[in-house]
Amino acid sequence: MNTGDQKLKTGDQRGGAPLHVRNPLWLAPLAGVTLPPVRRFFSRLGAGLTHTEMISCMGITHGNRKTAGMLRILEGEGPVVLQLFAPDVSSLVGGAGTALRISSEINAVQFAALGINMACPMPKVTKRGAGAALMNAPDTAFEMTRGLKKLGLPVWIKTRRGEGERPESLSRTLRFVEGLVNAGADNVCVHGRTPAQRYEGRADKEIVGEAAAKFPGKISASGDVYAPEDVLDYIGMGCVGVMLARGAVANPFLFRKSLLALGFPVSRECDDTFNERIGILLKLSEELKAECGDRLAVVLLKRFLGGVLRGFPMSAEARRAVGVVTDFYEMTRVLRSFAG
Ligand SMILES: Cc1cc2nc3c(=O)[nH]c(=O)nc-3n(C[C@H](O)[C@H](O)[C@H](O)COP(=O)(O)O)c2cc1C
Repeated sequence: MNTGDQKLKTGDQRGGAPLHVRNPLWLAPLAGVTLPPVRRFFSRLGAGLTHTEMISCMGITHGNRKTAGMLRILEGEGPVVLQLFAPDVSSLVGGAGTALRISSEINAVQFAALGINMACPMPKVTKRGAGAALMNAPDTAFEMTRGLKKLGLPVWIKTRRGEGERPESLSRTLRFVEGLVNAGADNVCVHGRTPAQRYEGRADKEIVGEAAAKFPGKISASGDVYAPEDVLDYIGMGCVGVMLARGAVANPFLFRKSLLALGFPVSRECDDTFNERIGILLKLSEELKAECGDRLAVVLLKRFLGGVLRGFPMSAEARRAVGVVTDFYEMTRVLRSFAG
């Protein structure tokens, strides 16, 4: 059995502090979702590490207030990877430096690693040369990795499997990952979908597994993680970590179920009864309101409502009742009315 004290060392092999995590189940970066209160919520539910959503280096450099607000880390969060995106080396390194300076001014706890998004397939990102477009500009991608390493934190890359059918996709993936690892990447998360697939179709777990076998200790996995079996598959293939994304939004307790399946002890947060689940939602809603404001709190709470109440007879009724509400106080009143 794994013990709670066990630390996975996802190493920075070339000096600098290694990154210690409690367990290999990590919250993936999710734009519009992995805001500080949501990350802390998942840390409480067992996530060994979390990610910010992808943050624009241009936004940071231009002093965009909303972007700077995305750099908050709350007390009680686990290790957080700051995921950045940029089209070129100087914007990336400049933006990262500014982000770290802002973080040191506003946060008591600092980011555990710097991440680079080389995975986002959306045209508004790729047409500027950022995200998955970097898979077609490997020299820039490797230079970015080297540039970011100079800031002294572990560097984590998130990318996708290469375009094409096998074996072309596999060899493209391995070549790109090799370049990133040689450039000093401490962790490379491979999402088993190609950029052309975006978020549809099946993630190719085997290609992720081949990368994990070729680069031991360096590869984490993303794609189609909906059940503990998916986590076990990726870990069994040698991945050092597994990123929970849409599966965690649909069922936040997937962290706990997967930790149990891996043999980790799990801390319980009083969540056995329907009342306790309502309590979890009320706590989350207050935390969301305090950090993100009323409007966003309502939007985000609705995303987690179904997953937190899943399996209880009153769940559908509560979802329907909260679903029509747009006001924060009305939402919490409706939630409380379901607590017996
Ligand atoms: C709404 C949404 C937002 C996302 N935002 C990001 C992001 O900011 N950075 C990133 O690297 N990946 C992002 N992703 C990709 C996820 O991290 C993950 O790799 C992807 O959803 C595949 O995992 P899944 O099939 O288990 O959901 C996003 C995915 C979704 C659905």
